[in-house]
Amino acid sequence: MTNVGAWVVAGGTVVTPSWTGRADVLVRDEKIIAVASDLSDLVDGSERRLDAAGKYVIPGGIDVHTHMEMPFMSTRASDTFFSGTRAAALGGTTTIVDFAMQPKEGTLQEGLEEWMQRAGPQAVIDYGFHIIVRRSDQATLDEIPKMVSQGVTSFKVFMAYPNEFYLDDGGILKVMQTVAASGEQAMVLVHAENGPAIEVLMQQAIDAGLRDPIEHARTRPAALEAEATGRAIALATLAGCKLHVVHVSNADAASRIARAATGGADVTGETCPQYLYLSDEDLAQGGIEGAQVVCTPPLRSPAEVQELWTALCRGDLMCVATDHCPFCRADKAHGLEQGFQHIPNGVPGVEHRIVLLYQAVVTGQITLKDWVRLTAAAPAERFGLAPRKGTLAPGADADLVVFDPNVTWTLSVESQEMNVDYCIYEGKEVVGKVDAVLSRGNLLVEAGEFVGTSGTGSFLGRPVVS
Ligand code: URP
Ligand code: ZN
Ligand code: ZN
Repeated sequence: MTNVGAWVVAGGTVVTPSWTGRADVLVRDEKIIAVASDLSDLVDGSERRLDAAGKYVIPGGIDVHTHMEMPFMSTRASDTFFSGTRAAALGGTTTIVDFAMQPKEGTLQEGLEEWMQRAGPQAVIDYGFHIIVRRSDQATLDEIPKMVSQGVTSFKVFMAYPNEFYLDDGGILKVMQTVAASGEQAMVLVHAENGPAIEVLMQQAIDAGLRDPIEHARTRPAALEAEATGRAIALATLAGCKLHVVHVSNADAASRIARAATGGADVTGETCPQYLYLSDEDLAQGGIEGAQVVCTPPLRSPAEVQELWTALCRGDLMCVATDHCPFCRADKAHGLEQGFQHIPNGVPGVEHRIVLLYQAVVTGQITLKDWVRLTAAAPAERFGLAPRKGTLAPGADADLVVFDPNVTWTLSVESQEMNVDYCIYEGKEVVGKVDAVLSRGNLLVEAGEFVGTSGTGSFLGRPVVS
């Protein structure tokens, strides 16, 4: 059952990356037909009406970094493709790009098919896939062009997590060379941390009997993220490969990306709300509270958080994604009992990204246009989803959000729909709330409540074609 139809989204202030103004939006057959101050020549009276008076009308958000149902660190991320995409929709996100994963002993194709089977019947919003490349043997490299031809154009490699995901520099170079030869859209995504050096620091902490969540941050210092970021850029430049650095947590790494881009390298980076709104003081609470905010790279010091804001506002990073990878308290507690190195790495976030970034509009750190660029337009451009996604213009998919800037409310486990039993921003008061969401003209959220059904999202083979 869907709520697809013709709509007039009336009376709102439309915000796109290039234009802001009072306009109505006409939607028909899953597409935006017109954005104009007067639609009277175009409507035929059959349209349903969404009242946006006093509210913003923005493009549906695009989160290019999620891990629904991901098996990781002896457990599995707690959001399914249904619960996670429902939460995304409630938070104003209408497209995700999730990470399919090559099985340790298996092929990229097997990984992709597994994720397709999971997402298809469940996802309520549109989705694409990156794929995690765990090996650099010839058979795996040979599969890369086949992934591209199926619309999976981005390949994540890890410089960290030895024995799990880690590839050495030679392996990464081979993947980059193959990706570079596999088409203009093809790109490598990198988890940039110096894994072997981190292993040494972790072992030293374990030998010293240190067990608290804060050790996660102490053994993964920013310097080892910045160093790996620079190395990844050097390898990608050598290979002539497009590069996107995921979950950048500090300004040193961000400015290496910006400098390389200024020098002509095809490299971009993203950060995530947890690196902008939390710090290692949250980790230092210890116990389960500390364990709940263990993610990788780790949260940084309050001073580094400020520097990251400066880097983001300066334009060093292209977008804000979430790295949504939630684990319930029992899983975090089970890891904590065995020591910091066993706490599942990851935090929930897909539901709160857009409202959190809006707080930076409220404080004047970014403009309304920046907000839409960072959360929708720029990731759409970079990941082959534009012009169908990421803006409000005739011909684009009717993915839009009515956002009410007049509501103040509190982020809490009580008010969230993500399938996880805590909120990492518990008690944080925020301004602005998602009121209504259309996904290809299908009403998913009405008056802040989910009204959709599972399986209405479609796979987006990238680059998307109309
Ligand atoms: O802590 C994190 N980031 N968990 C998800 C896996 C990854 O590295 O993105
Ligand atoms: Zn990662
Ligand atoms: Zn991730």
